[in-house]
Amino acid sequence: MIREILTFDSPLLREHSQEVKNFDGELWELLDDMYETMKKADGIGLAAPQIGVLKRVIVIDTGGKTGKIELVNPVITAMWGKQEEAEGCLSLLHKRGIVKRPMHVRAKAYDRFGKLRRYHVKELLARAFCHETDHLNGILYKDKVIEWVEDE
Ligand code: NI
Repeated sequence: MIREILTFDSPLLREHSQEVKNFDGELWELLDDMYETMKKADGIGLAAPQIGVLKRVIVIDTGGKTGKIELVNPVITAMWGKQEEAEGCLSLLHKRGIVKRPMHVRAKAYDRFGKLRRYHVKELLARAFCHETDHLNGILYKDKVIEWVEDE
């Protein structure tokens, strides 16, 4: 089911999201809805608080061969290097800004079945991991923008 995506003026986007305890049908439905909503909006990442659900759940799909990534209770365990690129957010359409992010990210997260998985991602995926994890802590990329750029 397509859900409504909240915009940056929503106070919910400043909340700290809670850890998922149950890897059940409710979680799977949330993940499925998030993916459907993200795809329809033509995005590459979505965090649950963006649809008003304060849970530590993320979906990412940058369109590469990695495909869909589902992160539940993600923790970034290491990051190094740096990249400065324009990024955007489905909660703030028609804007993009330059944000400094690490080039490499290591993270661990549960999948929808409660299995712990480890990731080493770089470039755009590293940026997406950081951006979406920030959402779970009430941090928005606009807080980190060095310079706004014209939307293409
Ligand atoms: Ni975002």
